[in-house]
Amino acid sequence: MTASRFDPSRPSPDGRCYRTLAAPDFSRQRRKIETSFLISIDFVEYRLPRFGNDRCACRVWEIDELARLSVLGISGGVSTPSRTTAVVNALVKDVALRVPADTGLIEITEAAPSLFVGLSRGALGASGEAIIQRVEKADLLVVGTPVYRASYTGALKHLFDLVDYRALAGKTVLLAATGGSPYHGLVLEHQLRPLFGFFSAVTVPTGVYGAPDDFIGAEIVGEAIRERISRAASEAVSLLNSNHANAAAAARVG
Ligand SMILES: Cc1cc2nc3c(=O)[nH]c(=O)nc-3n(C[C@H](O)[C@H](O)[C@H](O)COP(=O)(O)O)c2cc1C
Repeated sequence: MTASRFDPSRPSPDGRCYRTLAAPDFSRQRRKIETSFLISIDFVEYRLPRFGNDRCACRVWEIDELARLSVLGISGGVSTPSRTTAVVNALVKDVALRVPADTGLIEITEAAPSLFVGLSRGALGASGEAIIQRVEKADLLVVGTPVYRASYTGALKHLFDLVDYRALAGKTVLLAATGGSPYHGLVLEHQLRPLFGFFSAVTVPTGVYGAPDDFIGAEIVGEAIRERISRAASEAVSLLNSNHANAAAAARVG
């Protein structure tokens, strides 16, 4: 983070992001601003006579184009309603409460007719190609699957077989699964995580597994799974922030 001189007479680039913060909270607030809005800021302490010496000002100089993130949920669930889709939606929603985000959802049930017209990318029509491009362009993927035969669904794997092998490198991916048994939660670790390891994606450490007791029908009711959703979303946002900070630092050096 580079320091810059604070000049209150100079408007910020967007002319709106001027904040005053109580001095004791300054460093905490500074972190909060960065993690909440994914922005690059330059700041200096500034004493405002009318507030007394315990006030300082923080000014947002730069708002990166990445400030509004695209968060895309992908559910490999093939039933309707789907527990997997419920978990994916809950994760996307939780992330969107923490960062400004454009959210979307791809349900394999709806996407399958477009994706299964061909077994290779070149054989896809316009709608199938559009689905794959949404996956490749998202900032954060929230990928969920029901456990089928101790793995992800074949339909979900087909979608990722169509994604360019370079397109997800460095992308943040949050993993989720639901199963008919509470004992198959490690499918996150031995099936889903290696898939995104292949893509050189950055998977969020906490994955979310939903067992039957976590639901009534397809509605999430378990307190433990809710806490896990919250923790996973929080970790995803931290990772996004750190990716963003690194990119911003690299841009400044460049
Ligand atoms: C073909 C098939 C295979 C399944 N294999 C497993 C399995 O290996 N382990 C498991 O825990 N549950 C298994 N299940 C149960 C589903 O994973 C579980 O019901 C899941 O929560 C359904 O998610 P959905 O509501 O999103 O469709 C299987 C279900 C089907 C239909």
